Amino acid sequence: MPDIHVVVLAAGKGTRMKSLLPKVLHRISGLTLIERVLRTAAALQPRSVTMVVGHGADEVRASLIKRPRLQFVTQEQQLGTGHALLQARTHLEGKKGTVVLLSGDAPLLTAASLRALLDAHAETEAAATVITARLQRPFGYGRIVRTNGKISKIVEERDTTAAQKTITEINSGIYAFDLAPLFDALDSIGTANKQGEYYLPDLIAIYRKQKRALATWTVERADEIRGINSRTELAEVSTMVRQQKNEELMAAGVTLIDPATTYVDADVVVGADTVIYPCVFLEGSTKIGSACEIHSGARIVNSTIGDRVCVRNHTVVTDSTVESGSFVGPFAHIRPGSEVGEDAHIGNFVELKKTVMGKGAKANHLAYLGDATIGAKSNVGAGTITCNYDGEKKHQTVIGNNVFVGSNSTLVAPVTLADGSYIAAGSAVTTDVPAGALAIGRSRQENKEGWVAKRKDAKAKT
Ligand code: UD1
Ligand code: MG
Repeated sequence: MPDIHVVVLAAGKGTRMKSLLPKVLHRISGLTLIERVLRTAAALQPRSVTMVVGHGADEVRASLIKRPRLQFVTQEQQLGTGHALLQARTHLEGKKGTVVLLSGDAPLLTAASLRALLDAHAETEAAATVITARLQRPFGYGRIVRTNGKISKIVEERDTTAAQKTITEINSGIYAFDLAPLFDALDSIGTANKQGEYYLPDLIAIYRKQKRALATWTVERADEIRGINSRTELAEVSTMVRQQKNEELMAAGVTLIDPATTYVDADVVVGADTVIYPCVFLEGSTKIGSACEIHSGARIVNSTIGDRVCVRNHTVVTDSTVESGSFVGPFAHIRPGSEVGEDAHIGNFVELKKTVMGKGAKANHLAYLGDATIGAKSNVGAGTITCNYDGEKKHQTVIGNNVFVGSNSTLVAPVTLADGSYIAAGSAVTTDVPAGALAIGRSRQENKEGWVAKRKDAKAKT
């Protein structure tokens, strides 16, 4: 196999998106369009990957900072796709092999299709091989014009004759090119068309004149070559991507009660026998174990959930870990840096932030636990608040094992409640509590006998 050099065109403005964000940075199931295209390209194990950037170039580069091998070239003015590919000349001229040209806004193309393109290209020893598709409604695409069955040129929608408009075979905008003659031929592309642009597809007619071999490979599922030009198309393609991910999950033994309203990002992993209810969002690098229940309205972001965990309705978990056998929610908010231990219970209206709940620990109702460590089997009563912030700094609350925190306690950090201690309900705890001690941090109740009757009498007299 010859060396493969991938070039991705991503300099265009994406006018129809009506967005401040460059088009290729819009996301589908958690990944930017460009990230998806680059992942597919990587499957070809290319020698080099060059991206042509222009509109929003700095933002696009910044989003890809973790891909050190990626080379960028800038197309200062967007004069057309032919001009865009010419910008890669300095990186590629003099090298040998095959250029695979991808479009940054076509994220559905599979690596298998690209391999088929390369096979067809190698077999025919063509100078250019075009991926084509057959569409019932070809409007807007470049049409493949054939002479004696062989591709002879590509005509853009705006430049078509009435007869050419009826051609249903279209140009995907994805090609394989032999590198040797490519850049000299690109130089000879002109701008004699309705848009006054340098059209890359004109290369086909140029090669035909030069009597170079040309080939096409037709993709079976035409959806694969769909480009995204508007928010509507973004939504349509998102639906397809989501559907595919959901099918993969179901094939792996996950129950989705309603796949149409299950939103699972590309890199999320879910174990078998987990049941996902409608309207659940699993995002980023989330991993869910097996035999879990994830109830409606849950949103889990970049988090790891163990096995047999029940995440009840409307719970949000972000950048945290929830270990096996635990219950979380409904209406729980597990904020970044939290760890819910095995068999722990986090109930309704409980918020954790950078807080570790030990094995079997419970906070079943209405609590704020921030910057805290809570030991095994401890019980945090309703209305408990860790006062972790003094207006300037955050402080730690350390709760040992088997501690009982009575309802409506305020734990003023930094403070430590040692193993086995008890906190009386309604306490404001401002100093450390020794192991096994009872802390009462409130004024003592006083009962005034007969007070109600006395007040009545006093009122009657006035
Ligand atoms: C292009 C093809 C058309 C094909 C269609 C498939 C041309 C002239 N036409 O049309 O035959 O059917 O794709 O989707 O190539 N870009 C640059 N710099 C530029 C212009 C474009 O980098 O100066 C990039 C865009 O960001 C985009 C890609 O090239 O990623 C395609 O450009 P676009 O304007 O979308 O071309 P289409 O009109 O869709
Ligand atoms: Mg396009």
